[in-house]
Amino acid sequence: MNKETASERIEYLCKEIEHHNYRYYVLADPQISDFDFDQLLNELIHLEILFPELVNDNSPSQRIGGQITKEFTTVKHKYPMLSLGNTYSEEELAEFDSRVRKLIPGEEVHYVCELKFDGVAIGISYINGVLRQAVTRGDGVQGDDVTTNVKTIRSIPLKLNKNNFPNEFEMRGEIILTHAIFEKINADRIEIGESPFANPRNSAAGSLKMQDSSEVAKRKLDCFFYALYTDDLKATTHSDALNAASNWGFKISEHRKLCNNLEEVMNYIHYWDKHRDDLPFDIDGVVIKVNSYRQQEELGFTAKSPRWAISYKFKAESSSTKLLSVVYQVGRTGAITPVANLKPVLLAGTTVRRASLHNADQIEKLDLHLEDTVFVEKGGEIIPKITGVDFSKRKSDAAVVVFPEVCPECGSKLQRVDGEAQHYCPNEDACPPQIKGKMEHFTNRKAMNIDGLGIETIELLYRENIIHTIADIYSIRKEQILNLERMGEKSAVNILDGIEKSKEIPFERVLFAIGIRYVGDTVAKKLARHFGSIDSIIKATSEQLIEAPEIGEKIAWSVRQFFDNPDKLLLINRLKEAGLHFSISEDSANAKLSDKLKGQTIVVTGSFEQYSREELKQMIEQHGGKNGSSVSKKTNYLLVGSDAGPSKTEKASEMGVKVISENEFLELIS
Ligand code: IVH
Repeated sequence: MNKETASERIEYLCKEIEHHNYRYYVLADPQISDFDFDQLLNELIHLEILFPELVNDNSPSQRIGGQITKEFTTVKHKYPMLSLGNTYSEEELAEFDSRVRKLIPGEEVHYVCELKFDGVAIGISYINGVLRQAVTRGDGVQGDDVTTNVKTIRSIPLKLNKNNFPNEFEMRGEIILTHAIFEKINADRIEIGESPFANPRNSAAGSLKMQDSSEVAKRKLDCFFYALYTDDLKATTHSDALNAASNWGFKISEHRKLCNNLEEVMNYIHYWDKHRDDLPFDIDGVVIKVNSYRQQEELGFTAKSPRWAISYKFKAESSSTKLLSVVYQVGRTGAITPVANLKPVLLAGTTVRRASLHNADQIEKLDLHLEDTVFVEKGGEIIPKITGVDFSKRKSDAAVVVFPEVCPECGSKLQRVDGEAQHYCPNEDACPPQIKGKMEHFTNRKAMNIDGLGIETIELLYRENIIHTIADIYSIRKEQILNLERMGEKSAVNILDGIEKSKEIPFERVLFAIGIRYVGDTVAKKLARHFGSIDSIIKATSEQLIEAPEIGEKIAWSVRQFFDNPDKLLLINRLKEAGLHFSISEDSANAKLSDKLKGQTIVVTGSFEQYSREELKQMIEQHGGKNGSSVSKKTNYLLVGSDAGPSKTEKASEMGVKVISENEFLELIS
């Protein structure tokens, strides 16, 4: 394909993909299958690799992410991002309505009622219909430029298709996470021993500030827009502006409502107070805005907020009930989670029996005693939490809740790493829930994917003394399975087939499966690609581990802890003998593509347009080159990205090392 045809095809694919993104993520009404969508996207990515000069800043391929932001730059808002006055009471809302009417006497006032999304505020500017910059609220005057990360959010248009929008405008909205995605993120975090996010808002805020945009893309954030700002306003009312923005392709909640008087506003509030749990995302109230822009102007602003809008916040639903007991759950990594058992109580439409207490600090902060009457709240959080104790009801002889010193399952003395909130049971190899948890993790679909070895079968095999460690799985014999309750020939064959097939699982997944604390599937991939084999990882010092992309001190410490344990080395040897993959395979990402960089050492620094730093490093190795960590006499090239600091480039020019750009590098290997 020549450049001209490629350019036309790329333009067509960009439009087509964005259209289907809109159908799927904004309208929730897809026209094509996921498979067909992926085909289009893959074709685009393929063409963009062949013709990097044709890659557009706002290509839908940007949504996959890849760019790394080391530090978010601070940007001044063109229109300050004010906050809203808020109230919890209907009387105050009536006072707001009277104030508004007094300031614009004799005129009819209409209000637009909207949901108050509980997420992270964002302002996104567009020039000639193309997304230019996305900035967080910050202090309202200036915020952080998070454009790269925001571009991964599928419901946010990168380029508008219509042409009746102002040349320059800004959309304000709220970045949110749905409950379903939030729960998935937390389940994954618990899986790798990380503490879960408290609520979707925190999770969305954390995601938006991640350095690796490809990780942000995986978080599946969403965004609802609720305001248009421009110097070139055509609409005369807020509701017309929202309707127009909706036509341009922005996701505006269908739950907005134009109300003609206070009574209609109250009805809207009552409706959503009752039905907010039916929404797939969190709201913490309702926003009421005067509809007419002229009236808004007349009303103006106080120092902090507009006089033409107010937010009515729902009271977090709370109740009180009795604390029956506190139990301590032991996870597969040994993390101890205290859970409160409560006298069942109805809260926000569901019966609550348990509440998470997170860790020892939380228990101490609440000064919790057994049989206390506690306040339980279900605010933004999905899992109810205990917010306080009704001390007036405490019995004089109530026993204080003391965090145990030993593991409730195996009796080992608990440990707590300095600076961490979590306690751990160190008895990894003999504490039953840890052993079973590790085996479950190992056989999991995302790890070794051993069909037939589910929780119950593992439990049975463990109880019958057949398996104690993950390595024992590879010595299970057919007759041992047949001897178990409810196990027939068919199940036995199924299990053994699954075990046999798992030997084909690639190294990066095996590394994830062996269950090193803090090594989730993404980290495992990064370690596997960087080091190539388990032997190199075992040999690596903490410093060398930290040199791998995105491996920090905490992960490096955990990896070293794991492999410094002789029992773990024995375990790895047994798994090796069983025939599992412990080095990256030929056809995987690190396969040799050419010898074009043979004998060349390249140092990569900064952020890049088309590939992440990690991908570039991988490409260097794929083409026979070596990655250097600092510029020295041995360095042949310094590959420099956009925001590289001056020290490396200065050193390179002092030493006569050739400095090359991303495109020049791609030419070297093309
Ligand atoms: S309007 C000038 N509408 O609530 C006021 N804000 O304190 C512009 N929020 O952080 C805000 N849903 O991000 C408006 N439908 C909605 C909203 C909303 C959520 C957030 C907003 C801001 C806070 C206002």
